[in-house]
Amino acid sequence: MKRVLVAGSGGREHALALSLSKSPILDKLYCAPGNPGTSPFAENIQVDLKDFDAFARIIAEKEINVVVIGPENPLVDGLKDYLEERGILENVVFVGPGKEGAKLEGSKEFAKEFMSRWSIPTARFKTFEAGEEAEAKIFLKSLNPPYVLKADGLAAGKGVVIPEDYDSAVRELGEMLGGKFGSAGKRVVIEEFLTGIELSVFVLTDGKDYMLLPSAKDYKRIGEGDSGLNTGGMGAVSPLPFADELFMKKVEDRVIVPTLRGLGEEGINYQGFIFFGLMNCNGDPYVIEYNVRMGDPETEAVLPRVKSDLLAHFVAMGEGALKEERIAISENTSVAVVAVSAGYPEAYESGIEISVEDNIDSLVFHSGTALKDGSVVTSGGRVLVVSAMGDSIDSAAKRAYTDIKKISFNGMYYRGDIGEDIKRLLNQ
Ligand code: AMP
Ligand code: GLY
Repeated sequence: MKRVLVAGSGGREHALALSLSKSPILDKLYCAPGNPGTSPFAENIQVDLKDFDAFARIIAEKEINVVVIGPENPLVDGLKDYLEERGILENVVFVGPGKEGAKLEGSKEFAKEFMSRWSIPTARFKTFEAGEEAEAKIFLKSLNPPYVLKADGLAAGKGVVIPEDYDSAVRELGEMLGGKFGSAGKRVVIEEFLTGIELSVFVLTDGKDYMLLPSAKDYKRIGEGDSGLNTGGMGAVSPLPFADELFMKKVEDRVIVPTLRGLGEEGINYQGFIFFGLMNCNGDPYVIEYNVRMGDPETEAVLPRVKSDLLAHFVAMGEGALKEERIAISENTSVAVVAVSAGYPEAYESGIEISVEDNIDSLVFHSGTALKDGSVVTSGGRVLVVSAMGDSIDSAAKRAYTDIKKISFNGMYYRGDIGEDIKRLLNQ
């Protein structure tokens, strides 16, 4: 029986914890810090994700067997290495890479160079720093607009800018190298713009073999029809009709297998999730980005479709035995819709009381909520995620949208078109 700790406080961690809570081999589940949605079935422990010592203490005191890290920051900052160096992870399964592996997400330049070394399809690129503006201009001139500029380091999901014309691209490059994204933008990757449909593919790997999870599509823009500012994600759908067997075989052969081979040959011991942000360009997959964790809100659409025991999969990962492990996936479609605070992704208010009717069939995951005087209030931009399943995308979306109307808080906004593009594709 396993004692499990899930680190993080959002909808992704709520979904991970909910799946783990159903495991027959679970002894006790802790969330650090978790949220009001995880408290009915897990023990929430208040902890700052930057406080590595606190993690070490919790793992030892609570005799944790399996640690699952939700967000990227602790991984990029080297939480795993810190715990390993102190002997905390002996006999502990840790879901997430060490600092070297986390560079796949923590450094865009590292990720792009890695893809080049292992011939993994990705947009043509070059990296520049202050003083190299002249070379950058020559490279920009060799590309067609629009242009893609990426701050090398983590910039809270905001480090990618897509200027429409050459002059704006040069101006943007100057601002990025001038400190617009702080030290994350000291080096800037400039790359070719790829046209196609984006999708997220997830694997769990033990460093040699991998288990393919359901794929999903995220809706990144705040406005319907993919308009307006980028957000953390406004909704997700799983599975995707264009991620069929032929396409997924290309993803495995051209992207997943070479990535794992590359990690192995470069001596990077990687155990955890890899999230491949892909562009489907006329049936061929290209890697837009790697993430070293699950996606949010994709997890809230993906995990409800996983019928097998997630905790058993983590244990198998820890034992290096994923080759023998089989995932069972529901044929149903999931649609997840995110309810956000007024103003998000720019400034928004927090502390607004949330009311939820009690006749909701869908899963409701907490993303940015807190308890105040016994009531659940908003505490983030993305507040709640309603995730429904159905035997078609229509029925799943209908359920999600019927249920999200039973939730209200002042200024609540959600996109009404999650899954509409997929319905159009299916009707073509
Ligand atoms: P990232 O932070 O790397 O996920 O990039 C944010 C978004 O920018 C992606 O989800 C894509 O929509 C877009 N993007 C990034 N790179 C490219 C590219 N080479 N071509 C087209 N769009 C891109
Ligand atoms: N939904 C995109 C991400 O988690 O990065």
